[in-house]
Amino acid sequence: MPAQPADHPMLIRCLELAQQSVGLSDPNPRVGCVLHDAKGTFAGEGYTQHAGGPHAEVMALRDARTRGADLHGGTAWVSLEPCAHYGRTPPCSDALIEAGLARVVVATVDPFPQVAGQGLARLRAAGIDVVVAEGDVALAARELNIGFFSRVIRSRPWVRMKLAASLDGRTALPNGVSQWITGPPARLDGQRWRQRAQAVLTGIGTVLADNPRLDVRDIPTTLQPLRVVLDSSWRTPLDARILRPPGDVLVIGARPDTTRQAALHASGARTWHPPDVTVAGTVAPDVVLTMLAGLGVNELHVEAGPNLSGAWLANGAVDELVLYLAPRLLGPGRPLADLPEVHALDQAIGLQMVDVQPVGGDLRMRLRREGGDSFIR
Ligand SMILES: NC(=O)c1ccc[n+]([C@@H]2O[C@H](COP(=O)([O-])OP(=O)(O)OC[C@H]3O[C@@H](n4cnc5c(N)ncnc54)[C@H](OP(=O)(O)O)[C@@H]3O)[C@@H](O)[C@H]2O)c1
Repeated sequence: MPAQPADHPMLIRCLELAQQSVGLSDPNPRVGCVLHDAKGTFAGEGYTQHAGGPHAEVMALRDARTRGADLHGGTAWVSLEPCAHYGRTPPCSDALIEAGLARVVVATVDPFPQVAGQGLARLRAAGIDVVVAEGDVALAARELNIGFFSRVIRSRPWVRMKLAASLDGRTALPNGVSQWITGPPARLDGQRWRQRAQAVLTGIGTVLADNPRLDVRDIPTTLQPLRVVLDSSWRTPLDARILRPPGDVLVIGARPDTTRQAALHASGARTWHPPDVTVAGTVAPDVVLTMLAGLGVNELHVEAGPNLSGAWLANGAVDELVLYLAPRLLGPGRPLADLPEVHALDQAIGLQMVDVQPVGGDLRMRLRREGGDSFIR
């Protein structure tokens, strides 16, 4: 039987719960679960904890147990297909079967190869009525985990680039000063996008010009994203603020330099360079993205200057732009991105508007590459 209208608010509640896994469950997906007993009375709910910790279903089952609920003949709603494999925790599908549930409604199927329909099959084999939702709620469940879907399906993180510009598209004065173009609410909003990501990436130009920390602050978070500096020739100053806690730092160079790398290690950073040391110049975005996917980075948040931003945009490496526009005109200054010249308008980089909203006195636009999110649609 397909999902019923009454399933919709329960799946929406699952998504609200799953939202609480942001900044907590990485690199595991954000998942929420709600349980009712056979009479349709609320029995428990939960969301996925830190990696290696309990998943949403187990948290909800524990909650139900604490409340003394009897789940035999009851229903579970989950925002992602329950897992079917022994990872760091036992399969959630088995836990739901053992609890005696009669019906399980999932918002969307898990693309992870060791699950990918096998959790549903396990539940069905146990005689449970399994329903997979469609439409907006299914899409919202995939949106919340767009980075997880990207890493599993495309073997690369979802790349979100944040830029702050004046109304005339300037991201810094000619002397490099860019702090601050936008107001405090936009900067706080920017922190929320950072918190969603497992890694924040910048270029050495920004490290040298702004000496940023690029950590998550002013909003509560359990995890800090890995901070990544693209720095071909290891120029990151050893007293740079980005090297200080909280959170880990990875400096990516183009070729090995044991002396500089040892100095960076002594300052608390990890270093990496592509294994092929014949690579000249900067490290290609694809190489960086493959490496970060291997580290479990689902969402990559890029905050860089026009040099790196332009190169990554031109390369097609950026999936989404979060652009804050401040209501001021700077006149001469640095552009949003240093892009190669195009000679016809149809050669321009095409972006689709996702949403536009005022944030304090500034405007936030969210844009995506055309068709770039087709893997969740
Ligand atoms: N308004 C904003 O949103 C915003 C955000 C950040 C920064 N900024 C401003 O941007 C300015 C700095 O801009 P920037 O362009 O000099 O610095 P950047 O873009 O942050 O860093 C550029 C450096 O990144 C390295 N890099 C690594 N891979 C690259 C690639 N594929 N393509 C290009 N570069 C690559 C290059 O150095 P190596 O080859 O030596 O590695 C390059 O010089 C500052 O004024 C800062 O205030 C503004």
